[in-house]
Amino acid sequence: MSGVWAIVVAAGRGERFADGAHDIAKQFVELDGVRIVDRSVDAARRSCDGVVLVLAPGVEWDGAPVEAVVAGGVTRSDSVRAGLAVIPHDAEVVVVHDAARPLAADAVFGAVIDAVRAGSDAAVPALPVPDTIKRVAGERVIDTLVRDELVSVQTPQGFRAAALRDAHAASGEASDDAALVEARGGVVVVVEGDPDNFKITTPRDFVVAGALLEARRPERI
Ligand code: CTP
Ligand code: MG
Repeated sequence: MSGVWAIVVAAGRGERFADGAHDIAKQFVELDGVRIVDRSVDAARRSCDGVVLVLAPGVEWDGAPVEAVVAGGVTRSDSVRAGLAVIPHDAEVVVVHDAARPLAADAVFGAVIDAVRAGSDAAVPALPVPDTIKRVAGERVIDTLVRDELVSVQTPQGFRAAALRDAHAASGEASDDAALVEARGGVVVVVEGDPDNFKITTPRDFVVAGALLEARRPERI
């Protein structure tokens, strides 16, 4: 199968989420009755021809069928590389998605895939930054950044398959994959992100995501 493949990275430990209330990694916690990882895998399955799921070593997959399950690494970038290693060679577009973003809409997947098909090396969903951002060293403010030039970015991030392979060939580390493509001079573009597509990082995020899903329930409309 060629076309568009997804790598869903779900091999993290969720340390910022761990608050004693849950004894499993955040991606395996249920959000409105469905595990976070299942929501993310389903979103990837809806928009892509194949899905590679990256789990922590030793974790068995018991969710919906995916084309491959592989063991992740110590860092997120290591986990993406583990997934990339089993993506078919004839894949044209690879979409990398955080399992920890359970509310990613199909439209966001579609937008990054379309932007790559239109010729970019990579496409990332972006949102304007509402707060003023300052650079600090300890408690001392060093600089105030020009907010109009800033965006915050999400996953799914779409890539021309060869561009993502080249970017990861040097075993680089970055908090997102697009940064590795940028570092090699690749053309990375932004598409419209979705405020609901935030990453579940802390217990507070989990509460907010639950409230959003509750508000979306049809019986409330
Ligand atoms: N991830 C991964 N492999 C790692 C680290 C992270 O597959 N070695 C995945 C996480 O499972 C998550 C996504 O990358 O879906 C984004 O990472 P993050 O939100 O930082 O999750 P964790 O690393 O699990 O959380 P924390 O940093 O708080 O420990
Ligand atoms: Mg992390």
